[in-house]
Amino acid sequence: MSEKPPICNYEGSDYQTSFWDLADRAYEDAVEAIALKRLLPQKGKLMLELGAGAGRNTPRYAGYDRVVLVDYSKTQLQQAQARLGTSEQYIYVAADVYQLPFVEGLFDGATMIRTLHHMSDAPKALQQVRGVLQQSSIFILEYANKQNLKAIFRYLIGKQKWSPFALEPVEFAALNFDFHPRAIRTWLAEVGFKLERQLTVSHYRMAILKKLVPHNLLVWMDSVAQLTGDIWQLSPSVFTRNMAVGVTPRAAEGTFFKCPACNSPIDDTPPLLVCPQCKQTYSAEDGIYDFRLGEIS
Ligand SMILES: C[S@@+](CC[C@H](N)C(=O)[O-])C[C@H]1O[C@@H](n2cnc3c(N)ncnc32)[C@H](O)[C@@H]1O
Repeated sequence: MSEKPPICNYEGSDYQTSFWDLADRAYEDAVEAIALKRLLPQKGKLMLELGAGAGRNTPRYAGYDRVVLVDYSKTQLQQAQARLGTSEQYIYVAADVYQLPFVEGLFDGATMIRTLHHMSDAPKALQQVRGVLQQSSIFILEYANKQNLKAIFRYLIGKQKWSPFALEPVEFAALNFDFHPRAIRTWLAEVGFKLERQLTVSHYRMAILKKLVPHNLLVWMDSVAQLTGDIWQLSPSVFTRNMAVGVTPRAAEGTFFKCPACNSPIDDTPPLLVCPQCKQTYSAEDGIYDFRLGEIS
């Protein structure tokens, strides 16, 4: 895999409006909220939300004192800021999941929802997440499951070439990947996570069902089906709860950011952060830190 995997760029995208607000996705949003509630710890100090987008899920992390929203797209973060406001509770950071700008052992929680989906090098992304987490912290990972019932059916009747049973990810559109549950479990274990629980989510993601079955009933049916997630995974989306295992020293008091170019700790001095080691500079304007290398903000 290349040193710097490509990024699915959402800069300028109206994803939140077109995919969620104006489309018929109240069912998907509701069942994800249930899964998160089941998996999230009751409380925590510092949560890292990876691929936060416009902050659709962020209010669901209210048990944490502070949430750091990371997204590669600055315009997504601007939308999140417009929705959530500027307060001590939220820290907005434009950065690449493959090159996180935080010191090791900083966070006591992390989530990545509908984002691994865009990673051509998923193990590399997961490795980054593990690095910035403290020992015993909880990481909620959602991934798109290639071994879902629809894909299995289409494969068996010859309407789909790729096998849902093969371990390698399938790139069904440019930089959009579905993963095999076993591959995800292997990568999580390899980078230092212990899988604690799996919930299968969005079983009834079909226009006809959404039309015929009352919303609350469909959501309830999914909430029951989610509980089979540790037995089999045949839904299009899977939520996992993972504990960071292995020894990780906690981040030293007072440290937070590191330079994504050379990994040296870097002081938080908005509006300009300067790496003491390699002299790379990063802006922090209008409440958004920008650690994207090679981007002009
Ligand atoms: C499908 S959206 C999901 C947003 C949000 N998690 C949600 O569920 O509503 C995926 C997000 O991941 C971000 N993203 C994709 N690749 C990224 C990368 N390499 N580093 C940081 N963010 C990335 C995109 O900018 C986009 O906002």
